[in-house]
Amino acid sequence: MTTRPLVDPGVLDDPARRAALDSSEHLRHLAGLGAQLRRGYAAGRDVERVPSGSDATAVVVCGMGGSGVAADVLRGLYANRVSVPIVASKGYGLPALAGRETIVVAVSFSGNTEETLSAYRDAVGRGCRVIAVSCGGTLADLAAADGVAHVHPRSDVPMPRMAIGDLSAAVVGALEAAGVLPSAEDEVGQAADVLDALAARVAPDRPAGDNVAKDLAVWIGARTPVVWGSEGLAEAPATRFRTQVNENAKSPALSAWLPELDHNEIEGWSSGAGAGYALVVLRHRLEHARIGDRLAATLSAIAPSGLEARELHAEGTRPFEVLFSLVLLADFAATYLALLRGVDPTPIPVLSSLKERLAR
Ligand code: PA5
Repeated sequence: MTTRPLVDPGVLDDPARRAALDSSEHLRHLAGLGAQLRRGYAAGRDVERVPSGSDATAVVVCGMGGSGVAADVLRGLYANRVSVPIVASKGYGLPALAGRETIVVAVSFSGNTEETLSAYRDAVGRGCRVIAVSCGGTLADLAAADGVAHVHPRSDVPMPRMAIGDLSAAVVGALEAAGVLPSAEDEVGQAADVLDALAARVAPDRPAGDNVAKDLAVWIGARTPVVWGSEGLAEAPATRFRTQVNENAKSPALSAWLPELDHNEIEGWSSGAGAGYALVVLRHRLEHARIGDRLAATLSAIAPSGLEARELHAEGTRPFEVLFSLVLLADFAATYLALLRGVDPTPIPVLSSLKERLAR
């Protein structure tokens, strides 16, 4: 197996070398997650022409990649708190259940993603109660022409995946305005404060050895990350960690969650199979009471694989704090991993060229 050569871990504590690699100040933008939550939530709650959702029978959130993650975040935060089903839809169409009593939220940072535009048109055609979330683009134009509610979260970041707080909180705010969700004001505010403090503790000027995100990246090193969450709140952050390693460090990664992975993935960690991989387990105080024992038994069962594991712990005791603190830690760790590997975290040349090719 060929492994990508590591650069000197000293790059993480060297401002000049960091700046040379991090051309778009990715790390600085990550630190704004708390501000994004406040801003996105306010933008969503203030949306005009919001459809009524108090009698809605389902919520479908459409979007792809760095925008579609808002659907996973919403499910993680609310699937076990509201009685209306929340469906994440990532593709051109909508599930058959979408109809006049369904709230459909179409989310696209650029507003130009063909799958999301297709789903939006499908929703309008079916007479669904539609909310669009974008920073402009065709989605904003269509919403204006159709008289559909449109949230512009006024994001200040250059790339969709960096806007996870803006987009997710905009969806929460808009669904609250529609009467689907209870008020999240207190939780958003408290989580934002927690995220501001956490961002300072994993910031670039906090040296390795005193910075959990840098230390995790150094520990992963040249190995392929495997990220495990647990059902509910840590599902979206586990997926997020994987996709941030993909897009920022330009590297493959795996993700799964307990307890489901105990029914399939563990069989793959056969004797010796862990070489070249590094397992990160996302933990938090709200996880199911069985997860701790289950994790210990799982690691014991796959010990012959040689897979080395580390835990990453969320902050706080409320859903927003837990979910977004795991996202913040994952984002910083994946970005430090990019720098360690000598990669600029922001550009996504393969993804961008594919989009250009399909647009021709
Ligand atoms: O990370 C990215 O840039 C992608 O995953 C995009 O989010 C995805 O292609 C969808 O684009 P948009 O977020 O503009 O709808």
